[in-house]
Amino acid sequence: VPPPATTTTARLAAATLADRSARGIAAAVGRLISAGELADGARLPTVRAVAGELGVSPGTVGEAWRLLGDAGLVSTHGRNGTLVNGTERPRRPGRYGRLGARVTGVSWPLASGTPDPSLLPPLDRALARLHHSAAVVDYLAPPVLPELAAVLQDRWPHPVETVCLTSGCLDALDRLVRQLTRFGDKVVVEHPTFPPLLDLVAAAGAEPISVTLDDDGMDPAGLAAALTQRPRLVLLQPRAHNPTGITMTPSRAATLAELVRPHPAIVIEDDHIGDLATTPPVTLGAAIPHQTVRVLGFSKAYGPDLRLAAVGGPAGIVQTLADGMAIGPGWTSRLLQRLLADLLTDAATQTSLAAARRTYTERREQLIAGLAARGVELRCADGINCWLPVADEADALVRLATQGVAVAPGAPFMAEPDSPHVRVTVGRIDHGIDHVVALLADAAAPTPATTAPR
Ligand SMILES: Cc1ncc(COP(=O)(O)O)c(C=O)c1O
Repeated sequence: VPPPATTTTARLAAATLADRSARGIAAAVGRLISAGELADGARLPTVRAVAGELGVSPGTVGEAWRLLGDAGLVSTHGRNGTLVNGTERPRRPGRYGRLGARVTGVSWPLASGTPDPSLLPPLDRALARLHHSAAVVDYLAPPVLPELAAVLQDRWPHPVETVCLTSGCLDALDRLVRQLTRFGDKVVVEHPTFPPLLDLVAAAGAEPISVTLDDDGMDPAGLAAALTQRPRLVLLQPRAHNPTGITMTPSRAATLAELVRPHPAIVIEDDHIGDLATTPPVTLGAAIPHQTVRVLGFSKAYGPDLRLAAVGGPAGIVQTLADGMAIGPGWTSRLLQRLLADLLTDAATQTSLAAARRTYTERREQLIAGLAARGVELRCADGINCWLPVADEADALVRLATQGVAVAPGAPFMAEPDSPHVRVTVGRIDHGIDHVVALLADAAAPTPATTAPR
């Protein structure tokens, strides 16, 4: 039976004595829900009643309700008011759902953010070898195959305490953010960034603080300002950033590490591009290993369906992540781990990866040169995506789609308001690049005479 609204207001008044900001009120309601004091389906008191009881403005309470809604804890039901969601909360499609990445039937599917299937290394020989070596009988064997653990430790850019495996980067990031934040904690995110990263921060009930990038990586002044707000996490993509293609320089990594060092914050690096990157790994972990967790993806280079990522960092964090998996999936399939260990050490596979990197580089360079010839300046340092400023997002999407080119809308990537952009998965332009470049140039915003640093 939902508790009477007045009781809830009184409880809230007691629970928010220390912090009556929107975040503080939302966090207090979150705790009442977690403690079961606000049951599934309970109606929150009206904004006006709570504002009166707590002595804050209705706007503050409205903002708190919005934060709770974003985290999926409550929903508004018209005249029935705002109700606590059941424990089986439907996860809203969020920003990821707005990407339109699965557009089919177009000549150039450049909305996907995924590698060109024809540039993934062939698996047949590694699969044949797997057939002779696989043992698939054991619950109790170590969750990470010792031979794979050895390869990963060896490749890690600095000595790392513990490495575990998850079902892809997003699985790792989702688990880490939930593990390391409490409702209402602040998390530094890049602007722009990969939309699911913003979705998973919101789903954990954390509050993003956005920091922009320049050509060398996350902006140090922006990070310094964000750190004064005592964030719990700093979430960044070190190489071939999605959507901009920016790779952090080693000197920027060192600068950012020194900024983070005095703070109780943990850096989580989403190195999703892995072996498709044309530069060596770069990580804040080289300087602040006790504050850095690096997530290394294999989907882009070896195939999204491998569903494997490696997580390396301080034992206290990575072992807790692995322990959390032990009560759910248990471990990631050792069959796939065996396949990955083979691919990482197989000369023919590594040769085909080198060829893929060259092809992606050619496609990026052709796009950059073709746009430059039409007066559009675009930077796109590495990876498979680029971030194209356009005059108008909706107009660009429609105009390109009618000519057979699907690109992703820019808005879901934006952690703060910005000028319109679209994300173009340049790595998927496998034919007709001159034609596509001409279409993209038509959609692009005119490049200003002097370009401000991004
Ligand atoms: C920045 C970023 N992180 C994570 C992922 C997903 O990686 P995984 O397939 O390893 O979950 C992607 C895929 O596009 C990505 O662009």
